[in-house]
Amino acid sequence: MRRVRLACVVGARPNFMKIAPIHAVLRDHPRLEPYLVHTGQHYDEAMKDAFFRQLGIPEPDVDLEVGSGTHAWQTAQIMQRFEPVLDEVKPEAVLVVGDVNSTIACGLVAAKKQVPLIHVEAGLRSGDRTMPEEINRILTDQLSDLLFTTEKSAEANLRQEGIAPERIHFVGNVMIDALFAHLERATPAARTLARFGHDLPDDYGVLTLHRSANVDDPEMLDRLLAVLAEIGRRLPLVFPCHPRTAARIEAFGLQRRLREADVAVLPPLGYLEMLGLVKDARLVLTDSGGLQEETTALGVPCLTLRDNTERPVTVTEGTNTVVGRDPERIRACVADVLETGGKRGRIPALWDGKASERIVSIIDERFS
Ligand code: UD1
Repeated sequence: MRRVRLACVVGARPNFMKIAPIHAVLRDHPRLEPYLVHTGQHYDEAMKDAFFRQLGIPEPDVDLEVGSGTHAWQTAQIMQRFEPVLDEVKPEAVLVVGDVNSTIACGLVAAKKQVPLIHVEAGLRSGDRTMPEEINRILTDQLSDLLFTTEKSAEANLRQEGIAPERIHFVGNVMIDALFAHLERATPAARTLARFGHDLPDDYGVLTLHRSANVDDPEMLDRLLAVLAEIGRRLPLVFPCHPRTAARIEAFGLQRRLREADVAVLPPLGYLEMLGLVKDARLVLTDSGGLQEETTALGVPCLTLRDNTERPVTVTEGTNTVVGRDPERIRACVADVLETGGKRGRIPALWDGKASERIVSIIDERFS
């Protein structure tokens, strides 16, 4: 039987839980053969290795070890280092996930070499081109031959941008495949907190913050931390802090904001620790894309600290509310969740743990 090799690309933390379930299905496939490329965009134990281990992703076949830098530098470095890999490995297609710099960099190399490109999590749009991820999404979709979507809105976005409908497949959400596969093994919140010297409060909220728009501007970050610290006095917050955010808090001298309040600042957590923390939280305050979806799947109220979302189904059907960055509004929305229990929501169509199987079967058909 002819073996069909697929180069599967990961680069940053939010990619790992998306590639894990796809790679697992591909590994057992009689014909399709995954070749795992890690660009090295994220490289720390906390940002990469813990995820590979916990999600059962094997060591990558190649690590491009690109590391951190400006957007242009990072994207260019990934492109330069990925090109010879494509030449040597000669895959029949390149599969990319999500919207990080590794996604567009490898997508661009594949398209220029006329290697078919597959994009998982296609068609999401925030409508906000100041977000680097939005640029990555639009361009990757334009380059892709097969586009797999997580929600109905994505197909409408893609059609509007002139993508041929026969390239688009609504398959559900691979990140939710990973979530359902690992939920039983989630690390209890009490154990995670104890590891960092904190007791588990009766009730707590989880906070994450890393978007450039929120953390790179000293005034914005100060304003957000001030209101979050105030919320912490009503509902203790657990804050696994992204390295980028930790660096900004220190550089802007804002540590005092958190010291004064009931906010447990932790280093970045592994996948199972984060899952355990979120599943039992009273609410989640975040600017992450993935957490908006994971909270919807878990039925935990989510308040998104951004002005828009590229994942509208989490608002129309799930537990998500886009609250923006206005302290007054954030305060009011938190109070509402504490009083009413927050949005209940339902799990969106095809977020059933089987998206990866659907994806692999469509790829198999396409390349047979
Ligand atoms: C990237 C993604 C973003 C995603 C986020 C999740 C893009 C454009 N953005 O943003 O969509 O939500 O990852 O984390 O690709 N760092 C470490 N250790 C690491 C990796 C990074 O300390 O393993 C630090 C570095 O100081 C670096 C900073 O974090 O400068 C930012 O990392 P980078 O990958 O450039 O972007 P993120 O902000 O993480």
